[in-house]
Amino acid sequence: MAGVIASIKDLVVRAVFDSDPPGVFELVKVNNGFGTELLVDHLEPGGIAYCLNIRSDIRIMKGHTLERMKRGIEVPTGDSIIGRVLNAFGDPIDGLPEIAADVPRKNIITNPPRTENFDIAKPEILETGIKVIDFFTPFVKGRKIGIVGGAGVGKTVLTMELINNIAKSGGGLSFFSGIGERIREGHELWDTLKENDLMKNTCMFFAQMNENPIQRSMIGISATAAAEVFRDEQHKDILFFADNMYRYIQAKNELSTILDQVPNEGGYEPTIFSDVKILQDRLSSNENGSITSVQTIYVPADDISDPAVQFIQHEMDSIIILSRKIAEQGIRPAVDLTLTTSSLLTPEVVGDRHYMLSVQVQSLIQKYESLKSIIAIIGENELSPADRSDYAKAKKLITNFTQNMTVMTKHNGVPGDFFTREQTLKSIEEIII
Ligand SMILES: Nc1ncnc2c1ncn2[C@@H]1O[C@H](COP(=O)(O)OP(=O)(O)OP(=O)(O)O)[C@@H](O)[C@H]1O
Ligand SMILES: [Mg+2]
Repeated sequence: MAGVIASIKDLVVRAVFDSDPPGVFELVKVNNGFGTELLVDHLEPGGIAYCLNIRSDIRIMKGHTLERMKRGIEVPTGDSIIGRVLNAFGDPIDGLPEIAADVPRKNIITNPPRTENFDIAKPEILETGIKVIDFFTPFVKGRKIGIVGGAGVGKTVLTMELINNIAKSGGGLSFFSGIGERIREGHELWDTLKENDLMKNTCMFFAQMNENPIQRSMIGISATAAAEVFRDEQHKDILFFADNMYRYIQAKNELSTILDQVPNEGGYEPTIFSDVKILQDRLSSNENGSITSVQTIYVPADDISDPAVQFIQHEMDSIIILSRKIAEQGIRPAVDLTLTTSSLLTPEVVGDRHYMLSVQVQSLIQKYESLKSIIAIIGENELSPADRSDYAKAKKLITNFTQNMTVMTKHNGVPGDFFTREQTLKSIEEIII
């Protein structure tokens, strides 16, 4: 006998090992006749292991003995998972046959070694067909885009449209990780991908809001671990979509609470910084291949200064801010053009023409914002002719950046729009030059 359960509180199981204690992130099996597995979270002196009841199994009791499994959580890898929908443990949840026992598996915690002198190749722009994204936040291979916004402002719709547009045009491999969001949305996406025959290039991982915080905090990592294998062994370029990255931190925070950790001053778990880093650093490119990611970031109570939102945002190359004020005006996608930013909007990446246009557009939009408050007081007719002309141009630009989404067609009957980058640039030139 190696270990025994000393106490159980919520999903946390305190076990004592006389000898041969397990390692952190190792699985241990409960001898309860059901083979319940627990995951070691951390160790304390005296052979004490704090374990997590990963499947919320209620058939465990104080006094049950434990056995080391000498392995951690391992997800299946390789072609057998393409077209499949998996949970945080890599078990299929799509009702299709089990994944063969002999396919190679990968411990989700193992981080592949990083190369030191990896030069990022020349930036390669992928067209999304969405004007506001292609223009303000170019979608560059191997980089990260964050779609940030409060509840119901259109993060999921925009992500779905991106999946639809990019997955359809490229032959690449897409991963989708559903983290702590509505179950219905996962189903809808799965149905849409099947209808459009896109599942053949897609692998989905889900731990939605019905799952326990352990699985919700693991799902992004499980999906990343599987994606890394395709990048490193098959040298693939991968598109990685996550909805919603905020829920990962929220799940980590819930877990921290049940582990009796003292929160930091922002009200989150004390490890929030490393929690964000661990996942974001793995969602990266190396000399083998690339991972390009689109991540939604929920903003609790529309407070953009929330520490979790800030930490995640800092890891992004481009940030699309969706705003309730703009959504209320009926503008879709409800992008706040003054706050949306990208470190990739440079002449080297997008070329001189696009870059110069972006500078002009940004200054017009800023002018529009300040003129708006003046107009509210003195009226549009009192503006100088130059200001009035700029104001009119900015208004046209804002309308120009709206477009219908293909993924909304089955709800509203309006066909979606797709614009090449060239069409987008031309439409802007027509307005401002
Ligand atoms: N581009 C769009 N065109 C038309 N309708 C839209 C668009 N974006 C969002 N909507 C409408 O707003 C609703 C909410 O959008 P969505 O589910 O994308 O919000 P969200 O930001 O993901 O919200 P949550 O934080 O709750 O997940 C949609 O169901 C749809 O009716
Ligand atoms: Mg959503």
